[in-house]
Amino acid sequence: MMSKVYVIGMGVSNYEYRLLRADNLILTADILIGAKRHLDGLDIVDKQQIYLENGFDDAIEYIKKFYKQKRICILVSGDPGFHSFLGYLKRNLSNIPIEVVPGISSIQVLFAKLQMMWHDATIVSLHGRKIDIAMLAKSSEKLCVLTDSEMTPSVIAKELVEAEIDKKIMAIGERLGYEDEKISKMRLAEAINYDADPLNVVVIYDENVQI
Ligand SMILES: C[S@@+](CC[C@H](N)C(=O)[O-])C[C@H]1O[C@@H](n2cnc3c(N)ncnc32)[C@H](O)[C@@H]1O
Repeated sequence: MMSKVYVIGMGVSNYEYRLLRADNLILTADILIGAKRHLDGLDIVDKQQIYLENGFDDAIEYIKKFYKQKRICILVSGDPGFHSFLGYLKRNLSNIPIEVVPGISSIQVLFAKLQMMWHDATIVSLHGRKIDIAMLAKSSEKLCVLTDSEMTPSVIAKELVEAEIDKKIMAIGERLGYEDEKISKMRLAEAINYDADPLNVVVIYDENVQI
């Protein structure tokens, strides 16, 4: 009898950024629940797969119904503790034990690519939130932002330039971990005209930052 569900951090797309424990649990799962891009990327055919795009509520009902008989793994991008489905799951599965398997976050990968320390960075997500990004950029030597379809790197750069912030660099990490991953660094004025892939994370940092 299975008694817990697993919430697994998939890292960024490439399997090289995924923990061995994540892979072992995925291999022994009966049911995989996750975003289409994660499930399709695994190329597994012998397990039941449920796309989160079909509705979070359906996934919750399914988990409640089957977690005692089946090993269920819920796949989330990056690290589950960092802006993921984990919060929603915990609120809606309050009596069901959960094991969380960490993953490499998109922000870890971008900071690593920039060879930059991130313990002193300010980190925010703009998903569904309105944040005074100019105020944060002014007070932070390094500001890392999870963008969304409205607050793109270009829109953020425009907002910062309009707030007269000019001596900053924007680093944009697009499709991190995928074959067509792209890392770019540019001045904010230049970033206004940059058309980034929708899957991106940015770091806005003072031009004199060394580490
Ligand atoms: C809902 S958040 C999930 C964050 C995730 N838990 C993590 O640890 O990276 C989704 C946002 O993460 C960023 N992101 C996730 N995967 C990415 C990737 N492969 N490349 C660039 N950014 C990514 C994007 O800003 C995206 O809008």
